[in-house]
Amino acid sequence: MTTLLKKIRARAGNGIQTVLSSAGWELRRRSERHTTPMTLEALSGFLYFVRRFAEIRLLQGDIVECGVGRGKSFLCLAFLAAEENAGRMLWGFDSFAGFPDPTPEDKSPRNPQQGEKISKKEDVVWMLRDAHLGDDFVKNYVRFVPGFFNDTLPHYTGNNIALLHIDGDLYRSYKDTLDTLYSRVVPGGLILFDEYNTVQFPGATKAVNEFFSGKGVEIKHDRLSEKYYCVKPQ
Ligand SMILES: C[S@@+](CC[C@H](N)C(=O)[O-])C[C@H]1O[C@@H](n2cnc3c(N)ncnc32)[C@H](O)[C@@H]1O
Repeated sequence: MTTLLKKIRARAGNGIQTVLSSAGWELRRRSERHTTPMTLEALSGFLYFVRRFAEIRLLQGDIVECGVGRGKSFLCLAFLAAEENAGRMLWGFDSFAGFPDPTPEDKSPRNPQQGEKISKKEDVVWMLRDAHLGDDFVKNYVRFVPGFFNDTLPHYTGNNIALLHIDGDLYRSYKDTLDTLYSRVVPGGLILFDEYNTVQFPGATKAVNEFFSGKGVEIKHDRLSEKYYCVKPQ
């Protein structure tokens, strides 16, 4: 590079630095940049499960998730169950083929489509192992049941349920889960609704409101995570 070119580059570089710094910004090499290892959403999501888990510590029962997807929430639940070491089984239900056909109750600007959100069971298992939960924990305490809820949930073979996490997005998925598994939740057990009160998935809210109508069950709000859940009455 000629000396002149070097000078121009240096000046241009300095110029950019000066302009950026006067506006409160800083120019850095990519290798020097700090990245945020955890987002606020991930942290508050995890804290939500920590708090709910604390509420079932004295209850016996399995953990069931309907809507495993890529396993983000399942990983949180598995991590907490492994740490608790109380011998609870973790059940993950998912088609692993994406959404079934949405119904008119799911109509929203988000416009969910059949076959959306396909994930692979093997990837979730790999993620649990990668998180150092241990092969033995996965083999002994984790069960995935592939298939649509209306086919699989009626054949649930686990113990009664201490915590049921519903993350199936759609009206029928919520309804099938509540119709089939609510009776298996122990008194004092928790039912968590990932999409309650969201604009994207109005069917979830409708199914929950319909199911609990007249049952005298309070739908609680977790302010930090903006999630909703309820406690099964004694
Ligand atoms: C929002 S994703 C789950 C996200 C996941 N819990 C996480 O934290 O990564 C919704 C999942 O529910 C599944 N699902 C929705 N309705 C279903 C149904 N009726 N039967 C089986 N799986 C269903 C979809 O396949 C999809 O994987």
